[in-house]
Amino acid sequence: MKSYLSHLECTVTGETYDADVLHTLSPGAQAVLYPRYDLPAAARELDRTAIAARPPGIWRFFELMPVRDEANVVTMGEGGTPMLRARRLERAHDARTLYIKDEGLNPTGSFKARGLSAAVSRAKELGLAKLTVPSAGNAAGALAAYCARAGMECHVFMPADAPDANKKEAALAGAHVSLIDGLISDAAASSRAEAARLGLFDMSTLREPYRVEGKKTMGYEIAQDLGWRLPEAIIYPTGGGTGIVGMWKAFEEMEALGWIGSERPKMIVVQAEGCAPIVRAFERGERHAEPWENAQTIAAGIRVPSAIGDYLILDAVRESGGTALTVSDDDMLDAMREMASAEGIWPAPEGAATLAGYAKLRASGFLAPETETVLMNTGSGLKYQELVETPS
Ligand SMILES: Cc1ncc(COP(=O)(O)O)c(C=O)c1O
Repeated sequence: MKSYLSHLECTVTGETYDADVLHTLSPGAQAVLYPRYDLPAAARELDRTAIAARPPGIWRFFELMPVRDEANVVTMGEGGTPMLRARRLERAHDARTLYIKDEGLNPTGSFKARGLSAAVSRAKELGLAKLTVPSAGNAAGALAAYCARAGMECHVFMPADAPDANKKEAALAGAHVSLIDGLISDAAASSRAEAARLGLFDMSTLREPYRVEGKKTMGYEIAQDLGWRLPEAIIYPTGGGTGIVGMWKAFEEMEALGWIGSERPKMIVVQAEGCAPIVRAFERGERHAEPWENAQTIAAGIRVPSAIGDYLILDAVRESGGTALTVSDDDMLDAMREMASAEGIWPAPEGAATLAGYAKLRASGFLAPETETVLMNTGSGLKYQELVETPS
């Protein structure tokens, strides 16, 4: 099999760069670089039905992934997660069609596995051996696991109050774990300083061009799960936003491949009341989000005060006719109980936020009972034991 990867493209200026040379942000605009593919050739030569018949997981889309040699793929079976019809939630919310895409079933218990399988594979292919990442928690756990599997050196920097499970899983996988007094933005500064000192490669999401390629496979899978069409709305708990922009990219690629039409779901951002930079920028009509001061929420993964891909997230929301809203931590905890007791899925608080957001958007009338909606449960609640009381 061969990848149709052709080049990297600056998402601001459109300038192109050699994909087989190591890059971070675009050298000129210091903006996010997207991998681009020879989609006209892929459209002629790829058959979506044959691809859908391959073993499940992100690497079934190998030709549309940024790795040239299959021998470099570092995988633990990520992707291929179920898209479950939530019939009891449908009844409770008077909804016609509600799905949960359950990313908690990924290796390391979150959708971060998709992005880091892609990025670690590409890092291996480009000859890197020492990686570092600042993380709210789950990305640290996932990078540590994929580095262990690839035999690479791994450094992770996360807030000292990141979920316990993330600290433990990263340490257990042999990563050098640094706990930082502060937020992910402070962890990023430490990670960059250490990268310069020790010659580590910075795997920060969207500063590194390939994590988004792993995340985009959620978009391919949703289309495939619905028989090559898209739902009417997708609700996504947004921190750095790599998942939402990745899915948006997947839709554009699939249209160019002739796999879907021009229809798009409303892309809906949900953030926490205590950290909502994208929601605030959306409401103000801005394309870049001011950093959020004193970010606070129990949903560690969306406690992200500023996102380098803010313009990409906001463009997707606006072009899709979507929206951006906040939910409170209490809403998330209630929705966590509701999803677990109605559907048997213990979601991460970030995933629970999508259900809380859905309820709010139904109450406001933004979503109608018949709007076919996918809730992205981005991780497993099992990693957030401290949020739930032990029965006595
Ligand atoms: C469970 C969970 N959900 C959502 C997010 C936010 O993801 P993104 O950076 O793609 O917005 C994270 C990030 O750490 C996470 O761990």
